[in-house]
Amino acid sequence: MNHLSQIAQKLPEHDLDALLITSEPGERYALGFHGEGVVLVTRKGAHYSTDGRYMEQAKLQVTGAELTLTYTGKGHMALAKEYMKEHHLERVGFESGQMPVDEYHRWAELLPCILTPAQGLLDGLRASKDPQELEAMRQAQRITDQAFGEILNFIRPGRTEREIAARLVYELLRLGGEKMAFDPIVAAGANGSKPHAQPGDQAVAPGMFLTMDFGCVWEGYCSDMTRTVCVGQPTEEMERVYQTVLDAQKAGIAAARAGVTGKSVDAAARQVMEEAGYEEYFSHSLGHSLGLEIHESPNLSYTNEKPLPVGAVTSVEPGIYLPGRFGVRIEDVVVLGEAGCENLTQSPKNLIVL
Ligand code: GLY
Ligand code: MN
Repeated sequence: MNHLSQIAQKLPEHDLDALLITSEPGERYALGFHGEGVVLVTRKGAHYSTDGRYMEQAKLQVTGAELTLTYTGKGHMALAKEYMKEHHLERVGFESGQMPVDEYHRWAELLPCILTPAQGLLDGLRASKDPQELEAMRQAQRITDQAFGEILNFIRPGRTEREIAARLVYELLRLGGEKMAFDPIVAAGANGSKPHAQPGDQAVAPGMFLTMDFGCVWEGYCSDMTRTVCVGQPTEEMERVYQTVLDAQKAGIAAARAGVTGKSVDAAARQVMEEAGYEEYFSHSLGHSLGLEIHESPNLSYTNEKPLPVGAVTSVEPGIYLPGRFGVRIEDVVVLGEAGCENLTQSPKNLIVL
């Protein structure tokens, strides 16, 4: 079933006549097309308005929605209003998690309907990836694994975080990524204790850990991975910390499946940290979902007490961060099934010493 039909089928459950989709990921999810426009999905059909920059391509790619070109004096809102009147749409949901407040007020003033927050409708559907979405995510991850293989040849003492980040961007694009899923994080030595450090002028030196967190986009879908490698020999403490993170990550992956709560998967990894005495240095949740956006719901987090759906794609990324000293994070991306999970990340996880 295509996504437009899936959205239409969900409308009665949410007591809606239609869903108004205005965000880039929402548009991409609904139509499998990215221009810049507005989608209205009703119980019986769909309407897409876009402008002259995208119409020719939309005609080639979009199926299942009536297409209308915006033109001067008649923009998305006016067209949506006309369509709503014509189809007697009274209760219309909108992407309440994506729409700026000012824009909401403009829509609400103009439209002849009751605008109802409905972020959960799309989030619920987007949480379970279908085979085509999974194929795009597998390819995004393949590119990312290859880029990791390439970057290992580039890292050497004297290279700065900034140079390594720039090279990762180059490799991800060269290998076929459409764009970055997010700005790469590259953190050497003491910078590694900041989970989302920004790459700077710190050069890699012998005895340092180097954490790299990066991903690309393929056909709109994101990948995400983190590896921490050591340049020169690690100390015993560094090895112990690395092994603890790896054991926690494996425990998280072993616990990750559909039907259990995000909290229980997070707890499986956290328990390993606790037993090793590092729990207080694992300062974020275990993982997040990803897809058209790098951070989606549901999360593998101590606050998520809901069962995880089949087909959710989540990161599993524990870390230990010792302030002012060093940090280690290891991140894979997995697809949840009823009996366990499939790991999309193929890169090795044993401690690589360069
Ligand atoms: N890999 C970046 C993040 O998960 O926030
Ligand atoms: Mn991540």
